[in-house]
Amino acid sequence: MGSPPSFLVLSLFVLSFCLTGNADQITSDARGIMINGERKIFISGSIHYPRSTPEMWPDLIQKSKDGGLNTIETYVFWDLHEPQRRQYDFTGNRDLVRFIKAIQAQGLYAVLRIGPYVCAEWTYGGFPVWLHNQPGIQLRTNNTVYMSEMQTFTTMIVDMMKKEQLFASQGGPIIISQIENEYGTVMGAYHDAGVQYLNWCAQMAAALDTGVPWIMCKQDNAPQPMINTCNGYYCDQFTPNNPNSPKMWTENWTGWFKNWGGSDPHRTAEDIAFSVARFYQLGGTFQNYYMYHGGTNFGRTAGGPYITTSYDYDAPLNEYGNKNQPKWGHLRDLHLLLLSMEKALTYGEVKNVDYGTQTSATIYCYQGKSSCFFGNSNADRDVTINYGGVNYTIPAWSVSILPDCSNEVYNTAKVNSQYSTFVKKGSEAENEPNSLQWTWRGETIQYITPGRFTASELLDQKTVVEDTSDYLYYMTSVDISNDDPIWGKDLTLSVNTSGHILHAFVNGEHIGYQYALLGQFEFQFRRSITLQLGKNDITLLSATVGLTNVGPYFDMVNQGIHGPVQIIASNGSADIIKDLSNNQWKIFLGRARYNQWKSDNLPVNRSFVWYKTTFDAPPGEDPVVVDLMGLGKGEAWVNGNNLGRYWPSYIAGGEGCSPDCDYRGPYNAEKCNTNCGNPSQRWYHVPRSFLASTDNRLVLFEEFGGNPSSVTFQTDCWERLCQCSAISGIKFASFGDPQGTCGKPFATGSQVFEKGTCEAADALSIIQKLCVGKYSCSIDVSEQILGPAGCTADTKRLAVEAIC
Ligand code: GAL
Repeated sequence: MGSPPSFLVLSLFVLSFCLTGNADQITSDARGIMINGERKIFISGSIHYPRSTPEMWPDLIQKSKDGGLNTIETYVFWDLHEPQRRQYDFTGNRDLVRFIKAIQAQGLYAVLRIGPYVCAEWTYGGFPVWLHNQPGIQLRTNNTVYMSEMQTFTTMIVDMMKKEQLFASQGGPIIISQIENEYGTVMGAYHDAGVQYLNWCAQMAAALDTGVPWIMCKQDNAPQPMINTCNGYYCDQFTPNNPNSPKMWTENWTGWFKNWGGSDPHRTAEDIAFSVARFYQLGGTFQNYYMYHGGTNFGRTAGGPYITTSYDYDAPLNEYGNKNQPKWGHLRDLHLLLLSMEKALTYGEVKNVDYGTQTSATIYCYQGKSSCFFGNSNADRDVTINYGGVNYTIPAWSVSILPDCSNEVYNTAKVNSQYSTFVKKGSEAENEPNSLQWTWRGETIQYITPGRFTASELLDQKTVVEDTSDYLYYMTSVDISNDDPIWGKDLTLSVNTSGHILHAFVNGEHIGYQYALLGQFEFQFRRSITLQLGKNDITLLSATVGLTNVGPYFDMVNQGIHGPVQIIASNGSADIIKDLSNNQWKIFLGRARYNQWKSDNLPVNRSFVWYKTTFDAPPGEDPVVVDLMGLGKGEAWVNGNNLGRYWPSYIAGGEGCSPDCDYRGPYNAEKCNTNCGNPSQRWYHVPRSFLASTDNRLVLFEEFGGNPSSVTFQTDCWERLCQCSAISGIKFASFGDPQGTCGKPFATGSQVFEKGTCEAADALSIIQKLCVGKYSCSIDVSEQILGPAGCTADTKRLAVEAIC
């Protein structure tokens, strides 16, 4: 990669050379990506620039680099950059050039996934919604209106990178670009037009002449010269469609995203390390963590529907940028080892030995030296193999790495890195929540606002709103005379919607709301109502919670009230139905008329209330969060910065969490979850750059009703075991078959481990003698040292919980 520009030069010739950096030639073959003809190992991680702030970028990149990454991958978010057609925005956390330069500044490579469809749990998959309203357009298919917009945007991004000399071919850090995203998973639904579009994408991208390779992920039929790559939890079995393409893994999911109503996904460090080691064992040379830092869906950028504001992802760096241990450390140990074996992995001669029973050895020989991987993909069986006359036990679902084929330096199931749990610390700046003084104001909607649209049908919400708000009003009226057959009967208002949340008002009175349950985004709202003789106003307020971002024709999914909208009068066995669906509807964004801010009679559990308070920033450097426990659902701003949607009243379902988590066996996003029965998201990130030291303003728009009086500002600090003065006690030690997972308390109480069916009687006292009072201690885990455990199984484990 090119060195950073230097201005300390004397001759013009050198000056121009330095300004453009050292152009690197990026090529590839079946064994990997080459830089100036030399194959390298790439260990990459996704960080999406708008999910953090420019002030956070250097630290996130530094921690990635310290974690053994040499590459950072990001998508490009079209909707942010072109919110209105031909009106561009690259300011603040949309400053893509600044982000790429921040990567370059630390000497890392970059992968630019332009898309510009990106999926990414981002609203509308990253497409600006105005696209949808272009006459004659069809998205992601062979449609000239769409292709012209896509080409215009893609070209603009490429030109912007070229102008800043950011492609490696110009001396910059970008070594690879991506066009489209997992189109192979939906292409069939677009039939021949899909194939034509795919080919057009490839040609269009190639013609942009970036001087670096293009990739297409999950695209088995990617046309040359596109390189098809793998996404998933495991990609060791992947082979690209061209024998001359390298085996590349663009998304190794480090956990999973979270939904409103969902619990916290958790993928263990052991399982991720296993997947990575296996990938490099079996010939992969480029691997990217999706996500390495997930971050925050600020504003209304979360897609879905129902993706939470937190996009933590259980990534190696947590939402706020702190290290998620032991994941970060366990993977760093692996990365450093793999990088130390770079030459053997990329140039070595490869020999595979199959030991049967899902156990294999791969030996890389380079310049007379051998490096070994021993892999065991049994989900529940440790296996002992004999290599070179020596027995090696490989725990189930693990890979051992022996850089000299004799000493095991790393095993993916043996975590030596520190564990830590995070704690939220109260702010030392003030005594919250008592010190927070709240003011509030109600919101009255001006029903007389001229309708942006008057229609005799119910219009799709995104088409009208074009992503400028979550909310849309649909308003009509019904005239009732005393000879109307429904007059005097019990009446029910029934509304069918796909708009996620529906509020109904009859003659100005809020009669209730209902929200879609996670995964059931079509629902029917029913409430009994009373009408008066003469004119009755029926006002429906629909709210979306992120636009659909994935699937064939996802862009066409109806969002909003589609009807029927009916008034149903009970009339014995046969109901009388007054259908309002084809009434004249005024459809408008709603203009609120605000009342004055008041400080008395703070309302609780009232819908459509604004709350405001001022606060001092918690001292120190640790990331700041606001605890919104007690609130219902809404949006929050600090000093005018939109923190995102909040919804702490939505409790995560009780299923999917297990007190114990076995890293062994294939992972899926329902395995090893935590936080069942608690709010899906209670804490909301307030980046330090949003804050002044005093007099910061927090504004909440409360849609459902809640109580702000327990809101507090806190910091996210990790209890670092390494900050122990010394080990003061051993809370638990058992050698045998203890149950539990390090760093993860059982559902009830704070206990991490418990004794299994067998154990060595003196293990606890032996460990106590060895460790108490010391800064660190190590022990050979064997029956010779710890005594007989009396277990029937071959394998025994030692679990220790130490107290600082
Ligand atoms: C992939 C997609 C990513 C992201 C991921 C799940 O299929 O390419 O953009 O959506 O799934 O987090």
